[in-house]
Amino acid sequence: MSRPRPENKFALFFITTTFALLAVYLVFKFEPQLHDLLSARMGGLASKADTIVAFLKLIFLALLAYLIVRAFNTLVFALVRFRRGFEAPTLVRNIFSIVAFTALLFLIFTSIFPEANLGALFTTSAIFGVILGLALQDTLGNFFAGISLQADRPFQVGDVITVGTLRHTGVVEEITWRAVKIRTFQNHVVLISNSTAAKEPIEVCPRDNLNARLVFFNTLFIDSPAKTIHVVREAVREADNVSQKITPIVRIRNLGDSGVEYEVKYWLENYAKHNDTDALVRQRIWYAFRRAKLNFAYPTRTLLVERKARTGDREGDGGAIVERLAAVDIFAPLSTEETGMLAQAATSHVFAPGEMVIRAGDPGSSMFVVHNGRVSVEISENGRARTVATLTDGAFFGEMALFTGEPRTANVIALEETEVLEIGHAAMKRVFETNPDLVESLSHIIAERRQALATTEDLSGGRKDVSAGLLSSIKRFFGLS
Ligand code: CMP
Repeated sequence: MSRPRPENKFALFFITTTFALLAVYLVFKFEPQLHDLLSARMGGLASKADTIVAFLKLIFLALLAYLIVRAFNTLVFALVRFRRGFEAPTLVRNIFSIVAFTALLFLIFTSIFPEANLGALFTTSAIFGVILGLALQDTLGNFFAGISLQADRPFQVGDVITVGTLRHTGVVEEITWRAVKIRTFQNHVVLISNSTAAKEPIEVCPRDNLNARLVFFNTLFIDSPAKTIHVVREAVREADNVSQKITPIVRIRNLGDSGVEYEVKYWLENYAKHNDTDALVRQRIWYAFRRAKLNFAYPTRTLLVERKARTGDREGDGGAIVERLAAVDIFAPLSTEETGMLAQAATSHVFAPGEMVIRAGDPGSSMFVVHNGRVSVEISENGRARTVATLTDGAFFGEMALFTGEPRTANVIALEETEVLEIGHAAMKRVFETNPDLVESLSHIIAERRQALATTEDLSGGRKDVSAGLLSSIKRFFGLS
């Protein structure tokens, strides 16, 4: 049934009020004539004419009172909306109308029937009251539950709620004296009686609150978590209706059977559109995966694809490792065969952002070359970390402990996802035996790095003496003449 339009409502109100006013005027104006007419027509029942006229007055005045209450109600709540900027709940408006109308009716009744004792009527009708109470048990229950909902205000019009054992979810449209009306995301209207709403647990996603959602996805095990997290976070934060106030969180939920399982948590501007936004987020993830060459996990295919990729990777990586080592300045004097031999001996490791590659004070018998990524070299000074250097692709570290046999001098921490190539003592020894000059250039670098590590007071010693001392100790350590 369609609702009447406001202008029709106003016309109807105007006509009814005119009619009621006219009727009241006529009944009061022509009361004696009406009385005589009724007495003449009713013959034996002429004594009842008074009562009939009084009832006519009651009916027309009650109609007028009802119209006045409606008009007053509309005016008062329009004023509230105008002044306070909020729409009063239907239940409050209805209670206002009922109370005002009952009071007016009481006044009209007592002025027309002054001899009627309303108090006695109420007190003697206790049994009637019990019967009425039992009959109206549910209705009254809903009514009072509605009042408590209005008082508590656990949710308001426009909020998304999930309620009841059947978990109905939708946007609250109205709270009446009988029920809470919600519109589901399939555009159905569900009415939940107030007493049910007061009893059942209700999940409320307030309209003016940043409500969060979780969307799940997974990748193959070969896809790097750091890259995946970065790519997905950037893709999701750009999507419509995703709040700019809080950055989405992407995290690993599980290392599953067929891949790495992730969840992305994001906050919505308008929770009522969460289904559309979830879908958009999934779409953005799909395109971001495509661009970043990430792969969704497929249970059966994963194993096949992974094996192929590994074989290919190793072959491809072999060349890349030789290239990387050839570009390291201290290895520049090495022949192609020697660099190849070093690459064969090198092992690749991947570190996540924030992971420690080397810990100060640990023993160490290998050095590292940054294949791709970034690390920071940090020392602890008065209990606080100080960064002495940041090393990127092609730089090396860990050579101090390897060449001198002393403990590691600093912490080396991955700043982003970083792949390093580890070269052990034996491989370096072979290189030194054929390239004795390498020891000297290394001793210079180590001396320089040592000075950067030292505090200013310790810098009094000459760099030349330090590197000369180092040269002989490296030679000793590697058993070189
Ligand atoms: P090692 O002492 O084996 O372990 C920590 C490493 O940090 C160290 O070897 C160097 O390779 C590296 N390191 C120490 N100081 C510096 C510096 N000033 N600049 C670059 N790297 C450094």
